Amino acid sequence: MIAAGIVAGGSGSRMGGELPKQFLELNGKPVVVYTAEKFLSCSAIDIVIIGINPVWKDHMERLAEEYFPENDRLLIVSGGSDRNETILNIISAAEEKFAPRDEDIILTHDAVRPFVTEKMIADSINVVKNCEICTAAIPATDTIISTENGETANGFPDRGKMRLVQTPQTFKINTFKKVYAALDEPERAAATDVCRLYHSKGYQVRIIDGDVSNIKLTYPQDYELAKLIVNR
Ligand code: CTP
Repeated sequence: MIAAGIVAGGSGSRMGGELPKQFLELNGKPVVVYTAEKFLSCSAIDIVIIGINPVWKDHMERLAEEYFPENDRLLIVSGGSDRNETILNIISAAEEKFAPRDEDIILTHDAVRPFVTEKMIADSINVVKNCEICTAAIPATDTIISTENGETANGFPDRGKMRLVQTPQTFKINTFKKVYAALDEPERAAATDVCRLYHSKGYQVRIIDGDVSNIKLTYPQDYELAKLIVNR
């Protein structure tokens, strides 16, 4: 089974506003709808599951009825307390629908990255067949520094070797469940990025080409940029 897990369980505190950012509209259509369309249009994907904050589940269900009436490849489930818990809820729902098999994979994608491309989705599916995990990423264009205290720079990694991580992040479901189940509470709290988690456990993380347009709507400025991208 190939599942797409659209993580939409966050509240968008940095964006602000009444409506969580995944529901903001671009040309009259909510961001999360653009994102879901991209995955639903890939015929290799068996099921697309959106993990949404329970408070907004009815709202999401109404949107699903409006934009994807009677689509039996789309499911809405409650998100969890953090991004990984949302992914786990999505996996449970996928495994209720399809009997679990070793080769099952999930493409996890931020609901707030509506400009994911067909190519990124296809590349993710192809690459993960021969590895445990892959992620979309793009070359860093700004120099990146590391700092311990936020006031002075400690490290100047070679920009040519730096990549900015995007989603989709794609992995075998079975391995994710095993890796996550073996973590204690502090490790779970620290495991905010699945790729970093896999790397820390000794897995090789493969990189596929992302795109500068595959932006994540985080701040109001990103929403302004998204309005330009959607109309280009
Ligand atoms: N996410 C999720 N479940 C959570 C928290 C976050 O599915 N419990 C999702 C968000 O909905 C988003 C993605 O993870 O699509 C990336 O997270 P981020 O951009 O940090 O979103 P928010 O948590 O909504 O934003 P903020 O940190 O500003 O509150």
